[in-house]
Formats: sequence, C-alpha cells, structure tokens
Amino acid sequence: MKYDYRETVEYLLHWYDLNARILEWRSNPKPYFVWISEIMLQQTRVEAVKSYFDRFIKELPTIKDLAVVEEDRLMKLWEGLGYYNRARNLKKAAIVVMEQYGGELPANREELKKLPGIGSYTSGAIGSIAFQLPVPAVDGNVLRVMKRIAGSFDDITKEKIKKELEDDIEEIIPKDRPGDFNQALMELGATICLPNGKPLCEQCPVMHLCKAYHNGDEMKIPVKPKKKERLLEEKTVLVMECGGSYAIRKRTEKGLLHGLWELPNLEGKLTFSQMENAIQTFATHALVTKKLGEAKHIFSHKEWHMTGYYIKVERKEDVNLPEILWVDNQRICEDYSLPTAFEAYRKELI
Ligand code: ADE
Repeated sequence: MKYDYRETVEYLLHWYDLNARILEWRSNPKPYFVWISEIMLQQTRVEAVKSYFDRFIKELPTIKDLAVVEEDRLMKLWEGLGYYNRARNLKKAAIVVMEQYGGELPANREELKKLPGIGSYTSGAIGSIAFQLPVPAVDGNVLRVMKRIAGSFDDITKEKIKKELEDDIEEIIPKDRPGDFNQALMELGATICLPNGKPLCEQCPVMHLCKAYHNGDEMKIPVKPKKKERLLEEKTVLVMECGGSYAIRKRTEKGLLHGLWELPNLEGKLTFSQMENAIQTFATHALVTKKLGEAKHIFSHKEWHMTGYYIKVERKEDVNLPEILWVDNQRICEDYSLPTAFEAYRKELI
C-alpha cells in the first residue's frame, strides 16, 4: 500500500527550523551558490565542502568568471573533491548560461536539466532552494529517509522507484517552503537517518510515523543490491627529485583522472631490486634511495594498490620519460592539481 507522507511535512519543517546547519549557500541561496554547493555535495559531506565552496566562490564569484576560468586553475580549485568531470561540466554549463541565458541560471527545472552536469536531482535542488519551485530533489539520502519512513523494501537503485518517489514528493511538497522541505530531508539523512551503522532514531522528528522504526527494519532499509566488485590495479609510484624539484606529468589517457597531474608511476608493484632495474630503462645517474611504503586509493569502480619509491636524480636531462615536468613543491601546491590518490606520496615532497 502506498504510504501517505503528508503528515511528515510539518514535523520535518519544524525540525529543520530548529536544526538546520548554518551554511553560506543556505543563508544566501543565490542560484549560482546553490548550484556550486549542490554539485560539490554530490559526493562529499557538508563539513568537507564548506572550505572548498568558500575558496571557489572567492576566486570565481560569478557565472561569468566560471565560464572563462582556465582548466588547470579549475582543477586546482577542485583538487581533493574527486570526480573531476563535475568541475568540467560546471564550466561547460557556465558557458551555455552566458551564451544562451544572459548569464543567469534559468528558473525552470526543464531548462536547468539541459545544462551539462545538471540532472534530475540537481535541477530539483536548484529549482526548489534558489527559485522556490515546488519540485522534488531526490538523491540517495532522500531515498533512504523516505523508504525507511514508508517501511518499503523497494530496490532504490531502480530508476522507476526513484521516479515514483519524485512523484510522491511532488504531491506533498509544501508550496511555500519547497527548498526547506527538500533540505530537511537531506539534512535528516545526513545527521540522523544515517546510512552506515545505526540511525539515531531516538532523535528523529518523524520516528512516530516511521514504519521501518516501528517494525525494527531500519538497518534493512534501503535495499540496494550489491555493486560489482571494483577492479584492482597495482602501481608503483615514483617520487623523483632533482635539486628540490619533483617530476610530475599530465594524465592524458581518457577516463580516470583524465587531464590532472600525477606523480609518474609504473604498472604493477615492484620490489626494490625490480625498481632499481626498471629505473635504468628510463634514467641514468638515478638512485633509488628508499621505499616509501604502501597505499591504497578507492575510486568508485577501481582500487589502486600502490607502493612507492624515492628516487634521487642528478640531472633532469638524464630522465627520459615523455611529458614530465620538474616543479618545486610550492608551485605544485599552488598551481598543479595532484589528486588525492597520490596523497600518501605527496607528503614526501618538501
Ligand atoms: N546534500 C546535498 N545537498 C544538501 C543540502 N542542500 N543540504 C544538506 N545536505 C545536502
């Protein structure tokens, strides 16, 4: 039987009024601010997004600035947030907004959806929060919260289930506070109706209306079939230093971390002596001085299992690797986006 969410609305809004975190893009929900924050928040928690958001807006205060930002600068501003295509799409969309919408995001969900990187969820979030349109914004958090309230064992990875929930929310969303209602659901999902481990049901404003709580099913819902296992790749990462500069190179291959900078690396996990042999194939007068230990980085579909070596190079010309650049650490920090995947080895750069 279909759950009637109508009764939850007032409880959720009241709870939100008392508990909403104070955030720049909430206090000042300009369409541009809401857009940037929502894209950042897609894979990252609110607390981690705050400083990225502030820095981004300080450097690119308007859509016009975003439309003309250089790719490397944009990647630097996004460094650490991951899923870098999100940032590239922001810029692509900003160009369209400048060319076709006179520099202002359209106050219309269907028009918003035409922009690169803006799908059903983001158009609903921008529409409701920035333009007060009575439209749903259903992401994984909202699916979890709503399916628990309804005590539903629907498979939330199914597009049809998401669409149905969007329709259900559209029916009950309060016309005077659509953005607050959507954010109340997101906020509840982020702080109370938690995804991993036990949710904090005793603190929930709709505990008395929640079927999952009532039936003791809160840990069984939402239902999502197991994802495919991630592909495992082994790599050997090289911290090559020459007179205070380090070798970096731009990733050219399409796909993972495309267009970002990286520490040079080799396929497979090499032992110390294998590394000593390997280095002879692309450098002379280079000394493997220490093993840097192991590290792991998990992407959505892949895992890198890495080992690293510190290599001291006497002269840059003696290293014959295509496309490498020698840069000191300060410039790497300021101008080159080295993804978090290299974090464990990056701290060797001084
Ligand atoms: N997650 C994504 N968007 C959010 C928002 N506006 N508030 C809280 N959590 C969110």
